[in-house]
Amino acid sequence: MERIGILTGGGDCPGLNPVIRAVVKRASIESWQVLGFRNGWRGVVEGEFIVLDDQSVSGILPKGGTILGTSRTNPFKKSGDLEKLKSTMTKHEIKALIAIGGEDTLGAANKLSKEGVAVVGVPKTIDNDLNATDYTFGYDTAINIAMECIDRLHTTAESHNRVIVVEIMGRHAGWIALESGLAGGADVILIPEVPVDIDKVCALIKKRHSRGKTFSIVAVAEGAVLKDQGVVAEQKLDQFGHVRLGGVGQVIGELIEKKTGFETRVTVLGHIQRGGSPTAFDRVLGTRFGVKAVELVKEGKFGNMVSLQGRNIVAVPLEAAVDKLKTVPVDYYQLAEIFFG
Ligand code: F6P
Repeated sequence: MERIGILTGGGDCPGLNPVIRAVVKRASIESWQVLGFRNGWRGVVEGEFIVLDDQSVSGILPKGGTILGTSRTNPFKKSGDLEKLKSTMTKHEIKALIAIGGEDTLGAANKLSKEGVAVVGVPKTIDNDLNATDYTFGYDTAINIAMECIDRLHTTAESHNRVIVVEIMGRHAGWIALESGLAGGADVILIPEVPVDIDKVCALIKKRHSRGKTFSIVAVAEGAVLKDQGVVAEQKLDQFGHVRLGGVGQVIGELIEKKTGFETRVTVLGHIQRGGSPTAFDRVLGTRFGVKAVELVKEGKFGNMVSLQGRNIVAVPLEAAVDKLKTVPVDYYQLAEIFFG
C-alpha cells in the first residue's frame, strides 16, 4: 500500500482538522494510507505518527485546533534533524508529505523540496499574511471572532462613556485588525503597515466626542508601531526565536487617556481569536485545500502549495508563497480611514 504523510506546524488555527479529514478521504480513493505526524516537523524528525483512517477523522470537521498537535520545530535548526527526517521518510516508504502551515512551516517545506523531499504545502494562518493565495483558512474565523468581540465592547464602552482599545493579533500584517475593525465599526484602526501618529488618533477621538459621542473603540494590531518611536510592544523571544509581542494596546490606551482625558480601558483578545470551531468558509476552504493537496501528490507536482485564486484552487510554487509577506495595501487602509472618528 502506498503511503503519504501529513503534518500541521506553527500556531494552530480553525480549519486544520477539515484539511486533515479531506486529505484522508481523498487519499482513500487512491487506496493510500495516511500517516499523521505528531506536532509538526518534530513528528517527522522523531518518527512519531498515528495512522489516519476514516474512523480517526470522523467528527473532526467542526473542531478547532488540530488532532495531530503542532509545534514550531524547524528541521533545519538542529544539526542531524534533516537526516532523521529523511530516514523516517525512507523507513516508512512515504511517497510524499503534505505540510500544513504558515510562513515558517512552508519555508521549511520549500527548503526540503530543494533537498529532494517530495512535499506539497497547504497554507494556514489566522493572520492571512501568506503570499500567493487570496486567503488562508483560519482567517475568516478569526475576523468573525474579533468582530463579535468589538460588537460586545461597543455596548460596554457606550454604557460607561469610555474609550476601549482592543488589541488584536497580527505581528507583521494588520489584516485581522483591519477587517474585523471595518466589520465591527471600530472608530480607529491601527496596523503594523502604517506607523501610528498618536496625536492624530487623539484628535480623531476628541472630534468624535465633540460631536456628542461619548465612547470610542480603537482596534490595534499587536505589531503596530508608534511613529517616531518604533516598536512599542514588549518583544520577548519564544523558544524558537520568534518575537512574542504584547503590550502595544496598553501603551496606546495609556497615551490616549493621558492626551484626551477620556477614561480608557484595554482588552487583549489573544488566543481566543485562534480557538474554537471554524466558520463555514474556513471548513470549505480547508476541505478544498486538502482534496487538492492529494491531487498534487498524485500528479507528482511537488514543491507546490495549494492556493485560492478567485474561486479556484490552484497550485503555486512554494517559493512564491514564502518569499515575502502579504501585508495590507495602503489604499485598503485609506478606505478604512473614511470611517475613522
Ligand atoms: O501567526 C499566528 C499568530 O496567532 C500571530 O497572530 C500571533 O502573534 C502568534 O501566532 C502568537 O503565537 P503563539 O501561539 O506562539 O503565542
